[in-house]
Amino acid sequence: MTVSLRPIEEKDKEEWINLWTGKGGYIEFYKSLHKITPEITDVTFARFLDPKEPVFAVVAVDDESGKLVGFAHYLTHRNTWTIEDALYLNDLFVSENVRLGGIGRKLIEYVYGAADKLNAKKVYWSTQFENHRAQLLYTKVGVKSGFLLYRRPD
Ligand SMILES: CC(C)(COP(=O)(O)OP(=O)(O)OC[C@H]1O[C@@H](n2cnc3c(N)ncnc32)[C@H](O)[C@@H]1OP(=O)(O)O)[C@@H](O)C(=O)NCCC(=O)NCCS
Repeated sequence: MTVSLRPIEEKDKEEWINLWTGKGGYIEFYKSLHKITPEITDVTFARFLDPKEPVFAVVAVDDESGKLVGFAHYLTHRNTWTIEDALYLNDLFVSENVRLGGIGRKLIEYVYGAADKLNAKKVYWSTQFENHRAQLLYTKVGVKSGFLLYRRPD
């Protein structure tokens, strides 16, 4: 399969929602469907399209069918250690039936290119310890930061 990558567009909403909160989608992968309300999904999608928001999405489109088969969501923010912004890769997803075909790598490389254009110096992301499949890709395109991620308890 060959895919093309491009920024998300208004017309992608239904297909994107399917990859995001649909069956076999990203949020189900994280067993977090109870956390993502339709309102969150709507606001998140609207932010991708709002030029005032530092929130972005790139989609991978199957060249043959024109269907969406993956996405990466990323955002930029200030960083006290650099003049330039940093870029956080918030979400990365490839449809299960087309995994291991290089689409995940392509999405990350697209995000690296976007970081250069946005003048974001640092690009970083996190993953779960047990997500070995993702880490097989990450060790090829990135380096481990050596930091552990903590958060405020629920
Ligand atoms: C993680 C994910 C995005 C990877 O997407 P993908 O399209 O399968 O990834 P790619 O095919 O580009 O990359 C896989 C790379 O890892 C390697 N790899 C992955 N799984 C492997 C395995 N089981 N054995 C050996 N190598 C493996 C491949 O060799 C490939 O390297 P290459 O580019 O040098 O050939 C995809 O599995 C996914 O969406 N998973 C569910 C959601 C998820 O975990 N998202 C990430 C959250 S942090």
